[in-house]
Amino acid sequence: MSVIYRLVDVCLTYAAHPPVHAVRNCTLDIHRGEFVAICGTSGSGKSSLLNLLGLIDRPTSGEIYFRDTAVAALKDHQLTALRRHSIGFVFQAFHLIPHRTVVDNVCLPMVYAGVPRRERRARALDALRTVGLLDRAWAQPQTLSGGEAQRVAIARALVTAPDVILCDEPTGNLDSANAANVIDALRALNNDNQTIVLVTHDQNIARAARRIVRVRDGVVSETTHPDAA
Ligand SMILES: Nc1ncnc2c1ncn2[C@@H]1O[C@H](COP(=O)(O)OP(=O)(O)OP(=O)(O)O)[C@@H](O)[C@H]1O
Ligand SMILES: [Mg+2]
Repeated sequence: MSVIYRLVDVCLTYAAHPPVHAVRNCTLDIHRGEFVAICGTSGSGKSSLLNLLGLIDRPTSGEIYFRDTAVAALKDHQLTALRRHSIGFVFQAFHLIPHRTVVDNVCLPMVYAGVPRRERRARALDALRTVGLLDRAWAQPQTLSGGEAQRVAIARALVTAPDVILCDEPTGNLDSANAANVIDALRALNNDNQTIVLVTHDQNIARAARRIVRVRDGVVSETTHPDAA
């Protein structure tokens, strides 16, 4: 299996008084096709770790390789381009643009990724079909249920065919039925080989993943493979 992420002794320290050691000496490989849950309590450093994986923050020390590229060697504009082409993001709040149709929302990352205008609509509809929401393509976001809105956000994340989709508490705003729909959609994508990294504080949600990485006080403390049990 090819490695998508290699983190070697990575630390992220926020410059505050006193400094906050949000990620401590993290060494971690993530392979193509994996579905990894990063699980830990509030403040343990999950989002900080995800922001490193998302090439949003740079480590204070240590090395991150993304698809064999040493991230430290890239300039900010190269990181931005890599992020736009190769990484999809799903957040707890769906961040859909109001007063724009669902399909227009899904088109947006393709604008930034430089996908030709004539290709965008068909690809957006494909992505909506993948998450089972083709029939809501022309709806306004505010008419969707929470679970539907999050599946639109997933369609928006996958429409650029990214190497990896990063999800930060994607079910945090959802009741259990809607959360189950969203997790089912992520599992279906992973069954089609989409690499997914999901952050959650919820053990039950984490169990949907094929591998669980636990974070405590910024330390990646243990890795379990539910399927291997
Ligand atoms: N920009 C920042 N500046 C200073 N400290 C920060 C910053 N962002 C996060 N922190 C601190 O870093 C630590 C890790 O925060 P992080 O957001 O990664 O945790 P988390 O596990 O995602 O928590 P939650 O489950 O509440 O989202 C916390 O102590 C937090 O207060
Ligand atoms: Mg967080």
